Amino acid sequence: MKDRAALRVAIASPEIAPFAKTGGLGDVLGALPKALAKLGLKVSLIMPAYRRILQSEVTLEDSGVRFTVPVYSRNEEATLLTAKMGGIPVYLVRADRYFDRDHLYGDAAGDYPDNAERFAFFSRAILEVLKLVRPAILHANDWQSAPAVVFLKTQPEFYSGLSSVRTVLTVHNPGYQGIFESRDLLLLNLDDRLTIPRYLEFYGKINFLKGGLVLADKITTVSPSYAEEIKTEEQGFGLDGIFRERAGSLSGILNGADYDVWNPETDRLIAQNYSLGSLGGKQTCKTDLQRVFKLGENPDMPLVGMVARLSAQKGFDLLEEAIDRLFSRKLQFVLLGTGDKRYQDFFSKALAKYPGKAGIGVCFDETLAHKVIAGADFFLMPSRYEPGGLTQLYSLKYGTIPIVRAVGGLKDSIRDFSPSDGSGNGIVFTGYDAPSLIAAVDRALALFGDKENRQALIKNAMAADFSWENAARAYRELYRSLMG
Ligand code: ADP
Ligand code: GLC
Repeated sequence: MKDRAALRVAIASPEIAPFAKTGGLGDVLGALPKALAKLGLKVSLIMPAYRRILQSEVTLEDSGVRFTVPVYSRNEEATLLTAKMGGIPVYLVRADRYFDRDHLYGDAAGDYPDNAERFAFFSRAILEVLKLVRPAILHANDWQSAPAVVFLKTQPEFYSGLSSVRTVLTVHNPGYQGIFESRDLLLLNLDDRLTIPRYLEFYGKINFLKGGLVLADKITTVSPSYAEEIKTEEQGFGLDGIFRERAGSLSGILNGADYDVWNPETDRLIAQNYSLGSLGGKQTCKTDLQRVFKLGENPDMPLVGMVARLSAQKGFDLLEEAIDRLFSRKLQFVLLGTGDKRYQDFFSKALAKYPGKAGIGVCFDETLAHKVIAGADFFLMPSRYEPGGLTQLYSLKYGTIPIVRAVGGLKDSIRDFSPSDGSGNGIVFTGYDAPSLIAAVDRALALFGDKENRQALIKNAMAADFSWENAARAYRELYRSLMG
């Protein structure tokens, strides 16, 4: 069979695991490119060279390439570093003034005040990298790289060699849009035409994501259900009008799980490896988790875990309301998360009331995340909204039963277990209210005590296959559809 010329895709993202990650975005960009490369695509990756990467053990090379990009009335300099992820080239835009900081987007005091400038700069830099790698497709991710689409589409005079590049913008989380003061428009050096409501203007401010959504050739989000939900006023974060208008170019592709990283048979971060055929190791992982969080070391006590950013998105106000009722049940509970100080304070205090029964880790810790996902019996995700969600997919693989609210990617990946025919891979509830959450937990606890059904459920969960290959095929189709 004659090979088609490999499709060249440049993927730009503010996060790529393992280089830098604050949530699922990093995981996706750490896995999807590898799956695309396996399908024969020629992938390049572009991200900022944050301090944590410069100080890590990653092998970085100076490409020797230097360039400047316009930011407001200045020309800002960048150096291009390169690294490899698998065999895939990663281009890291180094500009210490913007990225040599402790965190990616902000610290305890809040977002960095110059985020508009930092990511306007990054987005311009993406296009300079494109001049080197000459892709057919630019695939941008979230608001931090969305202006690259705007620059490419509206300033062809600067990017004449890139006129055939087609654009895809993936929205991982429209709860974050990059909304800034209107004066920040000057950072972008765009024509005044673009301030008109149709493009970047958003209720008197400017909106980086909106610009990309209006102008990208294709828009995706990370599950089919979520692609529908964002077209509604309730769930569109003020952008539903655009999502409806662009419905013909919008699709949802369900995220996958990277089983090179999340697999109980090979995971080196957990106490003991295990598989469906030999579940003994899961018990060891549970005991280990109970020990780490100073819970009673009782194998018969159902243990519910959560690993999530402490944000309203993840249903923490619901949990707040339900917490005392939750602990009136016979269970243990562990929470690993960082984020909103309000939730951090509330849960630190609330869980301290239940020593031996509850534990909290307020830190971002990859090892602990694996320990919770392996050691818990159930994994709770009462999300208010969830574009894709990855931790429910990871939990399935570890035989840790997800208890989820039926929204977005949770709805597309978790089916309610039916004791009558033994189908389903989790516990699903619908209402965003404490009684619905508690009822779901009660069903989970009943199943825990029902050995036969519990075994069936664990088997269904561990057998589920959410590997990235299917998603990569869907992205490849999407890219091809743009190639005429
Ligand atoms: P989101 O991207 O909305 O945060 P996802 O479910 O897509 O949600 O992905 C979350 C990712 O972040 C998972 O890899 C999860 O393990 C990780 N994660 C979240 N909080 C923590 C934490 N405190 N420590 C370690 N990993 C975390
Ligand atoms: C976002 C979403 C999450 C999704 C992740 C990766 O942060 O909140 O649902 O899984 O991006 O696509």
